[in-house]
Amino acid sequence: MYKRPRRNRKSSAIRNMVEENFIGIQHLIYPLFVTQKENEESAIKSMPGIKRWGSQSVLKEVESCIALGISNFVLFPVIPEDKKSKKGEYSYADDNFYLHVAKELKKEFPDINLMSDVALDPYSTDGHDGIVENGIILNDETLPVLSKMSLAQAQAGFDIIGPSDMMDGRVEAIRQILDKNNYTQTSIMSYSAKYASAFYGPFRDALDSAPKAGDKKTYQMNPANKKEALIEAELDIEEGADFLMVKPALSYLDVIQTLNDNFNLPITAYNVSGEYAMVKSAALQGWLDYESTMHEVLLSMRRAGASSILTYFAKDYAQVLKK
Ligand code: PBG
Repeated sequence: MYKRPRRNRKSSAIRNMVEENFIGIQHLIYPLFVTQKENEESAIKSMPGIKRWGSQSVLKEVESCIALGISNFVLFPVIPEDKKSKKGEYSYADDNFYLHVAKELKKEFPDINLMSDVALDPYSTDGHDGIVENGIILNDETLPVLSKMSLAQAQAGFDIIGPSDMMDGRVEAIRQILDKNNYTQTSIMSYSAKYASAFYGPFRDALDSAPKAGDKKTYQMNPANKKEALIEAELDIEEGADFLMVKPALSYLDVIQTLNDNFNLPITAYNVSGEYAMVKSAALQGWLDYESTMHEVLLSMRRAGASSILTYFAKDYAQVLKK
């Protein structure tokens, strides 16, 4: 036997020398659920270890994450029922607490990279990402709402606008309104290939944002398909996106790899709520080793070609790195 691949694994020095991928804390984006109540700190049953943070408590939470080396954050709002409507007007209202939280965070911590979520679902009485009429999710009528929401977010100081709605033409609509208002430096991270996935369940619990009727299959992608991901990514690039995203990540590593092979923009993997819950709950039962499973999951996404990973593991991972 002349060829023995095990020789390159014989010591930790050699294994480290030939290591192709690694996860740095700079690659991770930490999602935070924010609520209107100032000092709230409430657990989410289906996401052990993840909390909803009040508009004041979130400042402390971000501070503790910064101390661990995290610099990228995305905020998701928990909107009170009485602020929801058919067309989600509260999403760009002056008194929207989500926008105020962003402003406060950027004032306190100007160096963080803060990303938003753009979609109607948290604000919508229908729980859909677009305006609903007779059971149909309207595309073109939704674009102006997404645009206004994005402009309000840029004005609040978000560094990256994150459209997660999957309406056609949203990136162009958002880029146009941002540029027209001189927010040429505000970035867009498009949820390019977002699948209609069962893995979003815990997130919808956290936000109480599940669709009231029907499902999201007329706008989110069919898990059976990959070619559509190429079309979506191509359109997002033409329309002015700065980053592409694949969501979920773990069951879609092939999609990450395909987009990485075909396009030059950085790709973010969204390691979604259900993927987190799966690992965390098994680890809490003692059925999986938490630290090594988390590491392997995140590594698989980097290996597939993701430059960054949006993940609920970020804080735990940062704590492991610190040790
Ligand atoms: C809202 C949105 C969702 C997620 C992120 N943004 C839910 C959905 O599309 O139903 C899910 C994220 C997760 O599961 O972690 N459009």
